[in-house]
Amino acid sequence: MPGFEAFGEEERKQVHDVLESGVLMRYGFDGMRNGHWKAKEFETAFAKRMESNYCQLVSSGTSALTVALAAAGVGAGDEVIMPCFTFVASFESIMMLGAVPVLVDIDDTLTLDPEAVKAAITPRTRCVMPVHMCGSMADLKALKAICKEHGLLLLEDACQAIGGTFEGKPLGSYGDLGCFSFDYVKTITCGEGGGIITNNKQYAINSDQYQDHGHDHVGNDRGAETHPTLGYNFRISELNAAVGIAQLGKIDSILARQKKNYTVMRNVLSEIEGVTFRRVPEGGVENYSFLNFFLPNEELTKKAHAALSAEGVDACFYWFSNNWHYIHGWEHLRNLKSLGNLPSEIKKQIQDLNTTDFSKSDAWMSRTISSLVKIGWSENEIQARADKMKTVISSLLKKEYSL
Ligand SMILES: Cc1ncc(COP(=O)(O)O)c(C=O)c1O
Repeated sequence: MPGFEAFGEEERKQVHDVLESGVLMRYGFDGMRNGHWKAKEFETAFAKRMESNYCQLVSSGTSALTVALAAAGVGAGDEVIMPCFTFVASFESIMMLGAVPVLVDIDDTLTLDPEAVKAAITPRTRCVMPVHMCGSMADLKALKAICKEHGLLLLEDACQAIGGTFEGKPLGSYGDLGCFSFDYVKTITCGEGGGIITNNKQYAINSDQYQDHGHDHVGNDRGAETHPTLGYNFRISELNAAVGIAQLGKIDSILARQKKNYTVMRNVLSEIEGVTFRRVPEGGVENYSFLNFFLPNEELTKKAHAALSAEGVDACFYWFSNNWHYIHGWEHLRNLKSLGNLPSEIKKQIQDLNTTDFSKSDAWMSRTISSLVKIGWSENEIQARADKMKTVISSLLKKEYSL
């Protein structure tokens, strides 16, 4: 995702402000900082852009998920339902609190299947965590209704879908809490960073305190602040936040460019019989960071992925067999490999991830190719790329079907 493609003068200027004062920390040093409060400035602007009352910046998307869960009171033994297609961070953020990840199937949206969520609810369930993978969203309306019926939290992981919307609301703002990543390969980047949005004042206060050792941030003497509860250090630095301010200023032009390039590719691939596209739930608008499409079966998809790469079409992913994003590749997580002893709640409650049946998800993932959408492609380049993808895929399909 292209934030790094858009790095330029604006980011340099913002970072320079921080370097000039030398105040790299977001708290304190009031007299030295030349009036620059980069983290606070980003939080205010981001909350506004995301149409939410509160934003808390933290050190990464992974920390954002952990802090959001903690802020809402999720702790040891609480179950959090998450999809089996996501980045490992979802799993890690839950485990960090001694809570228990419950992995369930995805559907043709490539995100949480609401029916699978319903089937996984137990008396210990506290939270449902949809992950809006590759630029598009889960069926949030259905998930919200389930959460309401069972008194559960809805926490959106919108790390890969910033700028998308559902029923007119920015993704991340539809549930109780929403999380974003600003790492180097996200739609907008801070280098490293993450953000939490919410309309719940208490969750906002809890996030603020939890990400900074429990500090209450009252007054202007850090040493005299009280600590209402236990917290840790998930703070963002002023340098990272400064980059984010400049990137946030570019978000709408990045999204517009993504949409344009996505549309060229999609229109061309739509002409191929046998290619279909991921379902976007009614009411949803993607952020167009990826074009996700299905081929008729696993074998053809593998061949198409290899052929695209051999023909020099870069940035096409076959998640089904990589080690990042799908349960199959997570040998260390399936076998709970950890440096130290894990909390007893996790060991006692977690499902056997080696034997859980994810065949419904396999059926979608084994047929999915995701093409990244870059913003740096010129009109000629994106057209040439789309045409090449069409030639490669349609010749493969013709060959296979005539066999
Ligand atoms: C869906 C999802 N959630 C969470 C994260 C974690 O973000 P970070 O790398 O900032 O910790 C990522 C990062 O790739 C992600 O893709």
